[in-house]
Amino acid sequence: MKVTEDIKYVGVNDHQIDLFEGQYIVPLGMAYNSYVIMDEKIVVMDTVDRNFGDEWLANLAAVLGDRKPDYLIVQHMEPDHSSNIVNFLNVYPDATVIGNGKTFTFMEQFYGKNDSMKKQVVKNGEELVLGKHVLKFVLAPMVHWPEVMFTYDCTDKVLFSADAFGKFGANDVEDPEGWDCEARRYYFGIVGKYGLQVTKVLKAAAALDIQTICPLHGPVLSGDLSHYLDLYTKWASYTPEEPGVFIAYTSIYGNTKVAVEKLAELLGAKGVKVAVSDLAREDWAEAVEDAFRYDRLVLATTTYNNGIFPAMHSFIEHLTEREYQNRTIAFVENGSWAPVAAKNMKALFEKSKKITYTETTVTIKSALNADSKAALEKLAEELAG
Ligand code: FEO
Repeated sequence: MKVTEDIKYVGVNDHQIDLFEGQYIVPLGMAYNSYVIMDEKIVVMDTVDRNFGDEWLANLAAVLGDRKPDYLIVQHMEPDHSSNIVNFLNVYPDATVIGNGKTFTFMEQFYGKNDSMKKQVVKNGEELVLGKHVLKFVLAPMVHWPEVMFTYDCTDKVLFSADAFGKFGANDVEDPEGWDCEARRYYFGIVGKYGLQVTKVLKAAAALDIQTICPLHGPVLSGDLSHYLDLYTKWASYTPEEPGVFIAYTSIYGNTKVAVEKLAELLGAKGVKVAVSDLAREDWAEAVEDAFRYDRLVLATTTYNNGIFPAMHSFIEHLTEREYQNRTIAFVENGSWAPVAAKNMKALFEKSKKITYTETTVTIKSALNADSKAALEKLAEELAG
């Protein structure tokens, strides 16, 4: 596939994968992208996952013809992109591997010392001239690991953005939801904690004239890039993407679920956009995505072992470890003899910044009654406010 006249796509699609990074379901598979820049000097941008070495080397050979690559640029050392560095060097031992100081530290940790490897250490802002093409390296630490760097092709105005602007899903299947949903689930699941660092590198990228973005996962982005850049700016700054209430709940015998359905109905009747997720049964990463998408969050759960039902406990930790902030939170608790879930849920947000709590907390004793129904109505009014 041609990205520009000189830039070719040589990545692979993975439909065998069960869990990406050992924890994310990927119903549409996954793509590990890799690119080649053909010029007087030839550059290969990153390798692919360990299970696809032969396919990737064949893709590469088909693009190279009778030529050989001069450089392999390693933008990210996570194994979904670096696993075939050794295989690449077995086939092309004369190629120089380009990375920054941290890249080579990680390379040795993962794949052992390689004294015969030709390596070139680059710094932020350093340029590499290939002939017609001039590449500029932009260090992007913690987007998503410390060694990450972007590469900007000044000639074709292409930004190679490592994990940034990536999404779940292989490139050979159409995503029925378009780009946003699986890009958002990927961003908040994998990079969400590092909003400050993403914001910093977005500012550096704003100084570049970018016409095409080549991420390491998902489709190549071209045309009007403002939609993607706007979303990333919001996501990285923890700004809610749109007004709405996300209700995340657990329910043991269905009584908390009844309350959640009632609350959703009340909010819907007031014209509020509502999304609901059963944390024990639905994808937690999708729930994290929705919590960051909307500006209001309702957490509804049962008191359990004098604490919180486990799926809710773990969900709140997923949020707080990703620096969840800048939103309104409400609690609905259920408990038959000593309801303490609301107090315990709130305590888990103790270190979170810029959280507003609703005045109303709903306490259900086993099942909804007139008092708890009235409290739900009050909460709906407050949330719709
Ligand atoms: Fe796609 Fe952070 O690796």
